[in-house]
Amino acid sequence: MKIAVLKERAEGETRVALTPETAKKFIALGADVAVEAGAGENASIADAAYTDAGASVGTADQVVTDAGIVLGVQAPDPALLKGAKPDAKVAALFDPFRDGERVDAYAKAGLEALSMEFMPRITRAQSMDVLSSQSNLSGYKAVMAAANQYGRAFPMMMTAAGTVQAARVFVMGVGVAGLQAIATAKRLGAQVSATDVRSATREQIESLGAKAIFVAEGGIEGEGSGGYASEMSDEYKAAQAKLVSEHIAKQDIVITTALIPGRPAPRLISDDQIATMKPGSVIYDIAVPQGGNVEGAVADQIVTRHGVTILGYANTPAHLAPDASALFARNLYNFLSAFWDGEAGEPVLDEEIGDAVRLTKGGQVVSARLKEG
Ligand code: NAI
Repeated sequence: MKIAVLKERAEGETRVALTPETAKKFIALGADVAVEAGAGENASIADAAYTDAGASVGTADQVVTDAGIVLGVQAPDPALLKGAKPDAKVAALFDPFRDGERVDAYAKAGLEALSMEFMPRITRAQSMDVLSSQSNLSGYKAVMAAANQYGRAFPMMMTAAGTVQAARVFVMGVGVAGLQAIATAKRLGAQVSATDVRSATREQIESLGAKAIFVAEGGIEGEGSGGYASEMSDEYKAAQAKLVSEHIAKQDIVITTALIPGRPAPRLISDDQIATMKPGSVIYDIAVPQGGNVEGAVADQIVTRHGVTILGYANTPAHLAPDASALFARNLYNFLSAFWDGEAGEPVLDEEIGDAVRLTKGGQVVSARLKEG
């Protein structure tokens, strides 16, 4: 089985879906691995590192010819995959809820699209979950970017010239990214508080030494399927807005990470609330590519409202390309190798995971989750 990896073509995408480490592991399974020249460049991986690992490096056409598996960070345009096997598997991010056109193009091309966003949230799939691995890095990077923008120090400093106060950091949304944001801000010496709609996060927040701020005892409403939050009622939203208004005025840094799968990100901070914050405060909105949690946030732009800086990258993990690539590539390897059939020389996916991630096969859109909308 030939595995092909193309250079990422999406704007701002610096990651690569294969590292020399995972190339070596795929080869050990019996696969041939081919990488487009320059594919790892933005993640600081030279072509020679791939050839040293046993992969071949060539042009896009050479790499794709007869490939049975294509790995990507962002799913490549199917027009680039014409030389691949007609039913080749493509494992990558497809943004399936928002990019129906690409899903249809994959169906039309007869390719088997495997959407890494749809990896089920079950224990055995944890090591295959790119959303987790990339969110973890995003949580870290969000705090670092906010700290860099902030004109004051994070830790309390007692100096001969007087005391510098610790920064107050508030994390909204305590999933994988939020937990890492809390841990990172704590390590930098900030006073950290956090909130979520899921009651289960209270203990996690406190175990990291941060203060939990909740709308109501329990916060029962937020428990959706598979560990994800569900959309909140209007009453809840009003109570949350009041709580945020009271708390946010005292904060120096706010990191927002709230997402609901398949829907625009919930609006957590309004312009009126930003106006109550101290000048010089910084907000980092991790959810900005999904529409943003913060009113006025614009991807990849530094916006100033009422003296408060609002930041958010269109692709936060792409700002940590070597680490993000290493984890993404391992997730893909863990996924495909778990199903590798030595005799067939290719992965044979099971129902639970295969049916969850498969968007298209045999010319049809087959994803139940996508059809449900
Ligand atoms: P996410 O990226 O879907 O959302 C971020 C956080 O925002 C979540 O904690 C969510 O509850 C919260 N949120 C949503 N709407 C909100 C609102 N209106 N106000 C405040 N907060 C709001 O979350 P992520 O990182 O995907 O994690 C969700 C859960 O899934 C976690 O418990 C995580 O540990 C679990 N998980 C399990 C995996 C597995 O078992 N394979 C893999 C990844 C995550």
